[in-house]
Amino acid sequence: MLVNMMDIRTIGSSESGSLSFFEAPGDLPFEIKRVYYTYDVPVGAKRGMHAHRNLSQILICPHGAIEVTLDDGNSRESVMLDDPSKGLALGSMIWREMVWCEPGSVLVVAASLPYDEADYIRDYDEFLGAAAV
Ligand code: TYD
Repeated sequence: MLVNMMDIRTIGSSESGSLSFFEAPGDLPFEIKRVYYTYDVPVGAKRGMHAHRNLSQILICPHGAIEVTLDDGNSRESVMLDDPSKGLALGSMIWREMVWCEPGSVLVVAASLPYDEADYIRDYDEFLGAAAV
């Protein structure tokens, strides 16, 4: 299973709405070193198209719907992120592609390391070679 969903603790009521939260360590398998979010992405646009050598991440879509496809070099799996109370846990050496499916969709990512371009593999053939090692 490439798709590893986690439940995010959620407090809610029909009168006043919902609040979801997670803490690290405790709720996550890593310390959070960085949080980033992607928004204003046109419907149908594709992002990602890379893998990380060392980074672990939790992907959350707090609003809208984003289809994420994961690839470990052997197989591919897709999942629709459209529930703010669910997170997609992603380890290293997983190629990911994200397609924005609804207007206004937001992707929030909690990451285990600061930004480092050297941690990216942006060439799919290079990824396949590294994944096979
Ligand atoms: P990228 O991770 O490729 O975004 P996506 O997977 O959504 O397509 O990053 C896009 C650009 O933003 C790239 O030039 C690197 C830069 N960037 C940072 O400077 N800091 C960050 O924390 C992130 C995630 C990206």
